Amino acid sequence: MSILVVGGAGYIGSHAAKYLSEKGRRVVVLDNLSTGHRDAIGDFPFYEVDLRDLDAVEAVLRKEKITAVMHFAAKSLVGESVAMPLEYYDNNTVGMLRLLEAMRRLEINNIIFSSTAAVYGEVEKMPITEDVPCRPKSPYGSSKLMMEEMMQAFDQAYGMRYVALRYFNAAGAAKDGSLGERHSPETHLIPIILDTALGRREKIEIFGSDYPTPDGTCIRDYIHVEDLISAHLLALERLEQGGDSAIYNLASQSGFSNLEVLAAAREVTGAEIPHVMGERRAGDPAVLIADNRKAIAELGWELKHNDIHEIIGDAWNFHKKFFGQD
Ligand code: UFG
Repeated sequence: MSILVVGGAGYIGSHAAKYLSEKGRRVVVLDNLSTGHRDAIGDFPFYEVDLRDLDAVEAVLRKEKITAVMHFAAKSLVGESVAMPLEYYDNNTVGMLRLLEAMRRLEINNIIFSSTAAVYGEVEKMPITEDVPCRPKSPYGSSKLMMEEMMQAFDQAYGMRYVALRYFNAAGAAKDGSLGERHSPETHLIPIILDTALGRREKIEIFGSDYPTPDGTCIRDYIHVEDLISAHLLALERLEQGGDSAIYNLASQSGFSNLEVLAAAREVTGAEIPHVMGERRAGDPAVLIADNRKAIAELGWELKHNDIHEIIGDAWNFHKKFFGQD
């Protein structure tokens, strides 16, 4: 019983590998290291392989006697996907097709997939439930929706079962400070705020102050990476126990505006964190909050770290350790 963590060198995949192994699962990591970090993989057996290399993927599945796959490997920036659709459909969608093909060859029938809020596009009614029609607004969201649809088709045709987990805003870091969020270049709100708190940036620009929200800035639903990951193991257990394929939002069902996140970060870090208000960033919906009740009811999922100060505090511990001097 070995689990292949695809994208295990990335932010969320590396946390997943660590958590699964702590829960007694045998973990093997596959990553092409295009955006992930070699030093985030730890001691797991590791294969530097691109998903689009079908024969290489098949060889890893066979050699390591993989019984289930968790798929975290994707390009994931909305703005970049608009500028580089070829890379997004190729890496994400074609990569998934090859992975499913390799799994099919070896009759590996369980896959857990990192999907995203971006599959929904603009939704009027908050919180978002899983059954609203998906109308992605970017190649990124569309590439992930296609990946969900492929899994659905493989289920129907070949009985390969899946759980797609639609993440809202993943944030925070491992409680022991060993892993955290670091992208290059960084585009996400919390790491940029923390960079500013450390003095690695002069100020943070808040994108847009005229949204139809109480303080005029965008509202997002932040979820601690450790809570996010615990849902993956529950999803796998659902499939191992014979459960059907399913789709779940992973979210906290509460929202914080960009200025509220900044205020919380000032409290957590004790730093001034200078900011300026800027123009809106293209493609940002005003509010994204998800209904999380389906995952709680069907997976028995529990949110243990659902406090914005705790989320930012854990991210800060990692950020200081990794980028600053304690
Ligand atoms: N923001 C700023 N200044 C910055 C960076 C971000 O004001 O320097 C704002 C953004 O405009 C947005 C909010 O902070 O209003 C959150 O932005 P992030 O980039 O941190 O996260 P997103 O909500 O854009 O992205 C997340 C996931 C994506 C996913 C997307 C779905 O990281 O993978 O939600 O909409 F696609």
